[in-house]
Amino acid sequence: MKHFVTFEGIDGSGKSTISKLISEKLRSTGYDVVWTFEPTDSAVGKYVQECIRSQSDPFVISLTFIADRIQHCKKIQQWLDKGKIVLCDRYAESTYAYQAAQLEDQVKNPLKWLQSLSHSRILVPDRTFLFVIDPKASLARIQHRIELIPFERLVFLEKVHRNYLTVSKGKRFVHLDGTKPIDELVRLCYEDILR
Ligand code: ADP
Ligand code: TYD
Repeated sequence: MKHFVTFEGIDGSGKSTISKLISEKLRSTGYDVVWTFEPTDSAVGKYVQECIRSQSDPFVISLTFIADRIQHCKKIQQWLDKGKIVLCDRYAESTYAYQAAQLEDQVKNPLKWLQSLSHSRILVPDRTFLFVIDPKASLARIQHRIELIPFERLVFLEKVHRNYLTVSKGKRFVHLDGTKPIDELVRLCYEDILR
């Protein structure tokens, strides 16, 4: 059984929808579940959201996302210590995929740089689900959102999409076809978490 589970994918790939449904399903079976997300709603998390909105310097954005995560991990550890299942909508791979895309012309190996900054200070999830979807399809899903944030641009999301595929190799990761029906994706994740 997995206790700390993260959900990753480009904007509109279905992370929030699926992870919330899984959390309800686990709760209705009697499990004690915390559904959480990044950027968080802490002061640092809110500052990160402001940085994204105002298109701040990518270094500032990278460092604040990492700071938000290091703080978030203290809470996650407390929940895990109490025996809860923690489901997190976006986590470390979001930084590796998005900020590596932002920093590609500014740092020699952005991915390595970002990983070296944080990996010894954050928790490793038991499972990370990556929702794989073509950026055009995910953008079509979210085009109705009133205030489209600057990140939600096709060219950028295509880079992010490629970075996600690069960083999500290894036993911890499960790639899911994000265009499958919602109930099937929920069932696949749910069964995997309890296995
Ligand atoms: P994210 O959290 O990855 O940005 P959301 O969960 O907000 O994505 O989903 C974006 C939109 O796509 C929502 O309108 C949601 O209902 C829809 N959606 C999510 N998953 C699926 C799916 N598997 N099939 C069809 N529509 C989906
Ligand atoms: P979020 O609200 O989860 O967006 P969505 O629901 O559209 O998937 O995240 C806001 C934006 O922040 C999103 O475009 C992804 C970006 N982000 C990063 O660039 N780096 C990170 O480390 C995280 C956690 C999010």
